[in-house]
Amino acid sequence: MPEPVTHPTRKGLPMPTEAEILDALRGVVDPELHRDLVDLGTARVSVRGSTVDIEVGLVTDEYPEEAERELHDAVVAAVRAVPGVEELKLAFADIGEDAAAELMQRLHPNGLPFAEENSRARVLLISSGKGGVGKSSVTVNVAVALAQRGKRVAIVDADVYGFSIPAMLGIDTPPVVVGDRVVLPPRKHGVRLASIGFFVPEDQPVIWRGPMLHKALEQFLTDFYWGDPDYLVVDMPPGTGDISLSLAQLLPGAEAYVVTTPQPAAQRVAQRAGTMFQHQNIRIPVRGVIENMSWFTGDDGVRYPLFGAGGGELLATRLDVPLVGRVPLVPALREGGDIGMPITVSEPESEAAAAFAETAAWIEAHPPTKRRNPALKVV
Ligand SMILES: Nc1ncnc2c1ncn2[C@@H]1O[C@H](COP(=O)(O)OP(=O)(O)OP(=O)(O)O)[C@@H](O)[C@H]1O
Ligand SMILES: [Mg+2]
Repeated sequence: MPEPVTHPTRKGLPMPTEAEILDALRGVVDPELHRDLVDLGTARVSVRGSTVDIEVGLVTDEYPEEAERELHDAVVAAVRAVPGVEELKLAFADIGEDAAAELMQRLHPNGLPFAEENSRARVLLISSGKGGVGKSSVTVNVAVALAQRGKRVAIVDADVYGFSIPAMLGIDTPPVVVGDRVVLPPRKHGVRLASIGFFVPEDQPVIWRGPMLHKALEQFLTDFYWGDPDYLVVDMPPGTGDISLSLAQLLPGAEAYVVTTPQPAAQRVAQRAGTMFQHQNIRIPVRGVIENMSWFTGDDGVRYPLFGAGGGELLATRLDVPLVGRVPLVPALREGGDIGMPITVSEPESEAAAAFAETAAWIEAHPPTKRRNPALKVV
């Protein structure tokens, strides 16, 4: 075979080849689609001498600006690493509705991804029989803490009537629909989100009955493009109603965490969620208890148990699971929730953020034991 002819560039390096550039683009992942550009087939490359032309296709003309910037920087970094490239002409273009719909059909066929036996996502249901104990705050901050540990994390806001996660995460951009079905969930602080709040004005009540709720939750799970996350954290509504039953059906491999405040009376109400998950028609394992508003640390450094003490321990004992987190009461946590800046982002060194980080670490270190395969026949 003849030796490949290489033309030295002005710097004496060999000219880059198209194959080398494509190889480099295999390391560039589309932040919205979570696949590399070569796998997606969305990069067009041509090389003339030491000049490289790349056109990257985007699945929608509403492709988020932040993601486009990330993609731009990743392509530049990848091409920079190829010897001999002196000039890069980089352009982005919408691939058009038909091509996008076709691509999304390949990436995201119909079906319920999280219900499959081989789904790698851990589904964490953050719940409580009691309202106002901090389920949503725990959901957001544990999700961010998991993302800070390098995990790919998504939140489903299943509190359809009382959604609060868009405001807590500070997401005010609606999700983008690609083709006629697939929805790209918006991202903030490293976390993706689906919420009914994207589709109804904040001051309007959601007046739906059970079947509509079930449908909405099912669509969050099937029509949103989650891209194989490590964790799907679900903010549950208070109590033990319809939605919990629907989720148990849609997410059979889920694990539940029960949130309570420390006063013994609160934990008795919180416990109802635990009892519900253990019910024979649901059978979702409760993995742990998270106690919130456990104490307030005064300026004197003393921890004051404003809401009593011991509720978390007691509930954990009753449900026969570990207490996996104790979060102090801190005004900054509420303020952060109000302005869309979780305390794990704004004050990562704080006592409360450390508590969420510890809980996230516990969760990561304790994957559930593999579900048994009911179809297995032993002969
Ligand atoms: N550890 C904490 N320190 C200070 N404020 C907190 C703490 N945890 C929660 N809060 C505040 O208490 C209020 C209720 O919290 P959150 O909305 O998270 O509870 P919830 O259980 O999801 O409520 P709901 O049952 O209404 O969905 C919010 O204003 C929140 O900011
Ligand atoms: Mg809530």
